[in-house]
Amino acid sequence: MDRIIVEGGRILRGDVKISGAKNAALPILVSALLADGWNTYHNVPNLQDVQSIKHLLSHLGARIETEEDTVRIDAGGLCDSEAPYDLVRKMRASVLVLGPLVARLGKARVSLPGGCAIGARPINLHLKGLSQLGASIRLEHGYVEASSDRLKGGDIYFDIPSVTGTENLMMAAVLAEGRTTLRNSAREPEIVALADVLNEMGADIHGAGNSLITINGVSSLEPAEVSIISDRIEAGTFMVASVLTRGDVTLLNCEPAHLSGVIDKLRLTGADMEIGDKTIRIKGSDEIESVDVKTLPYPGFPTDMQAQFMVLMSVAKGLSIISETIFENRFIHVSELRRMGADITVSGNSAIIRGVRMLSGAQVMATDLRASASLILAGLVAQDKTEVNRVYHLDRGYEAIEDKFERIGAAIRRIGPP
Ligand code: EPZ
Repeated sequence: MDRIIVEGGRILRGDVKISGAKNAALPILVSALLADGWNTYHNVPNLQDVQSIKHLLSHLGARIETEEDTVRIDAGGLCDSEAPYDLVRKMRASVLVLGPLVARLGKARVSLPGGCAIGARPINLHLKGLSQLGASIRLEHGYVEASSDRLKGGDIYFDIPSVTGTENLMMAAVLAEGRTTLRNSAREPEIVALADVLNEMGADIHGAGNSLITINGVSSLEPAEVSIISDRIEAGTFMVASVLTRGDVTLLNCEPAHLSGVIDKLRLTGADMEIGDKTIRIKGSDEIESVDVKTLPYPGFPTDMQAQFMVLMSVAKGLSIISETIFENRFIHVSELRRMGADITVSGNSAIIRGVRMLSGAQVMATDLRASASLILAGLVAQDKTEVNRVYHLDRGYEAIEDKFERIGAAIRRIGPP
């Protein structure tokens, strides 16, 4: 299993190009299921999760061609409507094929994704919405079976603004008969990106990015050629790295408008920023101020930036409180940060962080995608060497992260199995 070794103490300086967004690429690649013909997607990040979704789509019968960061998908010859356990268990976002398969083929059999390190991750809202569109739903042997001759538009309310729940039902509704309204829907930029792609294919979606989305069903969609938006979480991760190391880093090919929560909190820590159209230059200050954070659905502070921000607070001046309101078990990184000398106490869904002068390098274990990124960040400012194990978690969502960090001055290297 690969490991990443980081030597602490380097100041990060230079430019880093942000890749396409994992959480936009996954639903957008799946949307190819909704049309015959070749869809073309540019700026697709080269990630393990993208490989997994491509594997699933080809299992279903789609033809896929990849050339650098361009992926072409033709779902004209779908021959299967089952997403098997051994594919879904590798990546829970595979559940996104449910809505498009029922919409396109009238049926789907998808392995229930099960929980993961950060929480139970149920899909009850996905299933409730599908049944409100007229699908019959059966759960047995760890699979969900959904079927409908033709879905009919419905009025769907999300008890919780679920990101992939909104995406799944948006894709189910685009070919349904009549109008669908999604109320209390998620507002993430990745939802807007998916709606833009579907409308480019001929769908009739209004209001994406707000908590009320209206979808007028159409009879069919045509393939499209689109580009994946920039990854706001990768951008936020490098912003934290610059502030942590008192560096001076410029992000290229990013979307500042998607990062308002992160920008606001980093400014409060004392960071200095120059915001461009597609760039952010961020400089760290000598002293890092403590700032409280509560994770919330977009446009609130993103849960996917919680672990990274906690590292920054662990070497800030004074005491801060980080509250995690989205997932019930997203403090797994705390125990590993404590082993590096961080002073963090968890109470319920809040973590109380007392800043320390210096972390100390250690052997640590990655447990989920964003927790592994936080351990890399901690290694950047820890005394001596930090060895992060199980970096396959990192490879799911960050493209060539050690190369990008090395190019801006980090002492970081990946080593293969001993
Ligand atoms: C998406 O997950 C992202 N993944 C996650 O990013 C992100 O952390 C999350 O949204 C929140 O922003 C992708 O887009 C592929 P949710 P998703 O449904 O859609 C509960 C990363 O690191 N819920 O918005 O699975 C759920 O348990 C990943 O890139 C239900 O109760 O998250 C959670 O508490 C991690 N029933 C809350 O809603 C449901 O049917 C938000 O979950 C669905 C969700």
